[in-house]
Amino acid sequence: MIDRAAVEAVLNAIPDPATGRGLVDAGVPKGLTVSEDRAGFVIEVPADRTAAYAPVRDAAEAALKAMPGMARVSVILTAETAPAARKASLSPAAVEQTRARAPVPTDRPAHVRRVLAIASGKGGVGKSTVSVNLAAALARRGLRVGILDADVHGPSLPTMLGLSGKPDYVDGAMVPHTAHGLKAMSVGLLTQASDAMVWRGPMASQALTQMLTQTRWGTEAEPLDILVVDLPPGTGDVQLTLIQKTPLDGAVIVSTPQEVALADARRAHALFAKVNVPTLGLIENMSGDVFGRGGGEAEAGRLSIPYLGDLPLDAALRQGGDAGVPVVVGDPDGEIAARFARFAERVAAVLLPTG
Ligand SMILES: Nc1ncnc2c1ncn2[C@@H]1O[C@H](COP(=O)(O)OP(=O)(O)O)[C@@H](O)[C@H]1O
Ligand SMILES: [Mg+2]
Repeated sequence: MIDRAAVEAVLNAIPDPATGRGLVDAGVPKGLTVSEDRAGFVIEVPADRTAAYAPVRDAAEAALKAMPGMARVSVILTAETAPAARKASLSPAAVEQTRARAPVPTDRPAHVRRVLAIASGKGGVGKSTVSVNLAAALARRGLRVGILDADVHGPSLPTMLGLSGKPDYVDGAMVPHTAHGLKAMSVGLLTQASDAMVWRGPMASQALTQMLTQTRWGTEAEPLDILVVDLPPGTGDVQLTLIQKTPLDGAVIVSTPQEVALADARRAHALFAKVNVPTLGLIENMSGDVFGRGGGEAEAGRLSIPYLGDLPLDAALRQGGDAGVPVVVGDPDGEIAARFARFAERVAAVLLPTG
């Protein structure tokens, strides 16, 4: 059992190049997590200081690894994001820049065949609603499905799937909850909402990496077929870092008619295109709302991506989310479930063509 104070003492024996003080006293380690047999944190420095801090990262990593009982150490060195770079995050140069300072690449999660991202340009468009119902619809096809709520700014899976309680740790891995036949993990189960508010890019991506690679999604004998990842909304640096570090096999973009009008869906697609993640389709949600309908289909055509279809504004969809029982599960023969079954069929056909 690794002790947090011991970890801090080890880190504090290493001087911070900027101040000469111990790393902990200087406040260098951000988001220090210590658990059973592992420890990790982020060093976030101005872009022109990353070289100076590389030896610090290496020293910290070596010192922590030398602690008795320590099985895994993850120290991520990352550059603070300059506001200018944030704005330009979709330009090729900015992507290159982000790649150059990209944190440790994430391994593929063990025993997971395909990873599918659900993304949107804005929050509140139904990304999580689509994530849980699409996951449930994929599971109804007989697939083994997991769902990872990576939305650090508004984790909603605990509510939408009726989950609570921290996951168990067994042999150094987190055991996902099971809800409605889905293996589920949420950043909301690992942290208090108030913590999540202050998380920034590197923290968000570290949390995602941990949930992705340190969760027992499947076993050798029974691998997960598809892991659905509910990404944080937006098309900025946080999302870029996440999708660069995550081994994604495809993305589905959710947008409302209004969001289509604002070109947010286009930006989301561009973000995936930059990192060569195929957009498997666009779903127009809350169709027929005050913002009309049909914009999604036209936009998908312009972007040359498949249009998966629309979802009406439907009280049952909202109530299902509030009650922790996705509509696809609560009303499996209904019209909404039928739509998700079609989305699932098309997504599965692309991700797992041979079944
Ligand atoms: N088609 C829909 N009809 C009615 N309510 C919806 C629909 N899609 C989403 N909602 C509701 O809208 C709110 C935001 O949806 P959510 O899935 O949490 O969005 P996001 O994850 O994009 O922030 C939730 O209260 C959800 O229940
Ligand atoms: Mg959400």
